[in-house]
Amino acid sequence: MNREAPLGVFDSGLGGLTVVRALRAALPHEDIIYLGDTARVPYGTKGPATVLRYALACTRALVDRGVKSIVIACNTVSAVAPDRLRADFDIPVLSVIEPSARAAIRAAGDGRIGVLGTAATIASGAYVRAVCANSTRCEVVGHAAPLLVPLAEEGWLEGEVPTLVVRHYLQPFVGRGIGAVVLGCTHYPLFRPLIEEQVRAMLGPHVPIVDSALATADETRAFLVARDLTTTRKRAGQLEFLVTDEPRAFEAVAQRFLGDTAPKATIIDL
Ligand code: DGL
Repeated sequence: MNREAPLGVFDSGLGGLTVVRALRAALPHEDIIYLGDTARVPYGTKGPATVLRYALACTRALVDRGVKSIVIACNTVSAVAPDRLRADFDIPVLSVIEPSARAAIRAAGDGRIGVLGTAATIASGAYVRAVCANSTRCEVVGHAAPLLVPLAEEGWLEGEVPTLVVRHYLQPFVGRGIGAVVLGCTHYPLFRPLIEEQVRAMLGPHVPIVDSALATADETRAFLVARDLTTTRKRAGQLEFLVTDEPRAFEAVAQRFLGDTAPKATIIDL
């Protein structure tokens, strides 16, 4: 494994850039190739066999570009594909769900873990399995919050409509003894201030939010360090964007997710 090779990160579209943002903060010298499958987004409304097929194609495209490790920057893909990707490809594959589940167990104390995610992520039961694999004690209450994805893509992050939507999606957690709320979709960190405010109002003043992007970046860094896979370069890591459709539209919104100036995106075919 070449430690100077880039990390390969992919998502159904833009949302995984919240993971890239966290990865760049945690691993500032690493080069990253990011693939957004903008031709086929959203994944969150699709069935597991379809999502797996798409994930295999995205991973193949990144492996063919010589990446040293794959970070699945999409909860929906992480819900159905990691085992198969690990079996089929000969490089490390990290997902967002396992780190988030571990972070949620640490954060939830004696309470239950509330998970917001896409319909596919919640239906898969992946968070329940990941929490059970790491704790015999914690319980999960999952709830699909699909409308937050198009709102994030529109940049509609505050005001009456997102507030009503967030309150609607938090309602099933009220009175359930929730000790932590997981943002189990790559788009949801954009709503973090609003979700925090509404969690405080509806679930209590001390319920922490677990951001799957931050948890994933922390574990990716620990994983690379433990295996001597971090780059030895000291310059700022370079970022390359690949998309499967509409590169200009991707670039226009990318900055909001990335929190920084976004590079030009190159279109590729899977
Ligand atoms: N990236 C997806 C996730 O984290 C959300 C967008 C989609 O549905 O494709 O689940």
